[in-house]
Amino acid sequence: MSKPSFYISTPIYYPNASPHIGHTYTTVAADAIARYKRLTGYNVWFLTGTDEHGQKIERTAKAQNQQPIEYVDPIVEGFKRLWKTLEINYDDFIRTTEPRHKEVVQYIFKKIYEKGDIYKSEYQGWYCTPCETFWTERQLVENNCPDCGRPVELVKEESFFFKMSKYAERLLKHIEDNPDFIQPVSRRNEMVSFIKSGLEDLCVSRTTFDWGIPVPINEKHVIYVWFDALTNYISALGYSTENDEKFKTYWPCDVHLVGKDIVRFHTVIWPIILMAAEIELPKKVMGHGWVLLEGGKMSKSKGNVIDPHLLVDKYGVDAIRYYLLRELPFGSDGYYSEESLIQRINSDLANDLGNLVSRTVAMVEKYFDGVLPGPQGQEEALDTDLREVAGKTLEDYKELMEKLDLSNALSVVWRLVSRSNKYIDENVPWALAKDENQRGRLGTVLYNLTEVIRIITILVSPAMPLLPPKVWEQLGLTQNQEVQTWESVSTWGQIPQGTKVQKGPALFPRIEEGKTEAKDVTPPAPSQEKAEEKETGEEKYITIDEFARVDLRVAEVISAEKVEKADKLLKLELKVGDEIRTVVSGIALHYSPEEMVGKKVALVANLKPTKLRGILSQGMILAASDSDKLEVLMVDKDINSGNPVK
Ligand code: MSP
Repeated sequence: MSKPSFYISTPIYYPNASPHIGHTYTTVAADAIARYKRLTGYNVWFLTGTDEHGQKIERTAKAQNQQPIEYVDPIVEGFKRLWKTLEINYDDFIRTTEPRHKEVVQYIFKKIYEKGDIYKSEYQGWYCTPCETFWTERQLVENNCPDCGRPVELVKEESFFFKMSKYAERLLKHIEDNPDFIQPVSRRNEMVSFIKSGLEDLCVSRTTFDWGIPVPINEKHVIYVWFDALTNYISALGYSTENDEKFKTYWPCDVHLVGKDIVRFHTVIWPIILMAAEIELPKKVMGHGWVLLEGGKMSKSKGNVIDPHLLVDKYGVDAIRYYLLRELPFGSDGYYSEESLIQRINSDLANDLGNLVSRTVAMVEKYFDGVLPGPQGQEEALDTDLREVAGKTLEDYKELMEKLDLSNALSVVWRLVSRSNKYIDENVPWALAKDENQRGRLGTVLYNLTEVIRIITILVSPAMPLLPPKVWEQLGLTQNQEVQTWESVSTWGQIPQGTKVQKGPALFPRIEEGKTEAKDVTPPAPSQEKAEEKETGEEKYITIDEFARVDLRVAEVISAEKVEKADKLLKLELKVGDEIRTVVSGIALHYSPEEMVGKKVALVANLKPTKLRGILSQGMILAASDSDKLEVLMVDKDINSGNPVK
């Protein structure tokens, strides 16, 4: 019987900079889902790739004096290299600059044009180049892009328009009839209100730059980059070409996994393109949350972009994958910090899972010369409980994985890991070993532990693909493929008696805190590297670039209070644009909390957050001092909070 198919995609990434930990999260999550589906018997197609056209890439390349393709080629290679390092097992990687993609985009554009749903007119409105998005005047927020807050440009040009409005009712009905189409529910509700507020026809071509796919009926125009990019999901399957078996096998896509910022493109524009082109809609769009940093959003200009290669070098592939999937509640935002990463590695991986395996194998070696005995005698209550918890874990795990809730799926597996460690403590094998009459019982306990490790290993394999071969080796099961399968996981007692185990190196060595601090994983920006070189030299000046690394902002104090048992400290809540920050400041001897409220101060906004008296302080306010005097630098004219200080 042929296997059922399962198609999952990641967004295609803009190769305007190297991949960071946010991109890594999406791709690792998609890979874990793809691996789970392969494990459970599906014929999986996993697609990723790069979105290479558009004004943003054209401008970035120009600024580097390069042709766009010369500029993107090495970055695309960097994406592929990172995915290889992270054991991302994709089936295809599509680049929108490939002829196989261009052909399909032009075909669909023409098809919709001939149907009358694309027409020529004039566009006048606003454009956000970083987001590659058109906005109307009324959608702008304080004259800026409502999505990213950056400035927009006025665009007036002849354009082709796509009759989105014509399909609004049909799309709403589809969303209503298919409650799973947009996940999680909160994002579905947002999209429904967005569509209900009225869809305008979408401008789908540009004439003021060239870096794109030409409009087939008028080569003066290039196709709007989102129309081009979204089509990757079917161009990669050979839709509309002679070679369309993959399209027939895998479309409609089971899951488009995307970040929350691009759910709208995938649940409004993409389905309407498909409706107009008379193609079935994808089954599900899952909008995941964002990886945030405690000091605010990751950005190149702040120099706080986390390079996944450095993290992997330092902590290993499985640990990084596990951390990302476990730490970030699927569907919601989560915070990355090296501290929490080390904590997860030491507690979940080294202490809980690593110790479970090493203690079990060591005891089989010590008490049975490494030859696993079979279970003997009556099953006792503790054994029944362990077996039942394993069964329940499997059921919960399946349900959560089907819902794409990877974080909770891993957390239920860790419930079983904890139960297993407790089983060791409850049975006290080292005491059993002292009594010759308890030899049978000791064998049963160790057999049950080995069996539960086998189950845990299979369940964590989608998240941590490098782990299973290491465990199989220690358990002496490398050659025994049958006990490594999904089918075997639901039947207790699969490991043959007499299996020879062998202790190996620690699966997850503990990270000694302090030792890691020496090497910060945030790559120094080029200007910072230079600054460090200069420290040893005679250079007394810094460049304007070096100064620009300090992100100074106007911040408004919205509340202030004394920090308990710290005479000099005030805890301030600051409004910085749309963000609220907590800053602990040593000004309490000079300012009362009441005096500070309402003041506008200068904040170093990209200072690494640090804990002061147990409070996370997210920046530093500037003050001048002279022996016993201190004065906070204030902005006395009414300048909006969040504005830069230069
Ligand atoms: N090129 C478009 C997607 C076109 S899909 C037809 C694009 N590219 S992107 O490179 O800007 O972003 C790709 C994905 O990375 C998005 O899903 C985005 O949400 C995700 N992330 C970027 N930064 C992120 C975090 N800090 N955290 C999690 N994911 C984030 O948009």
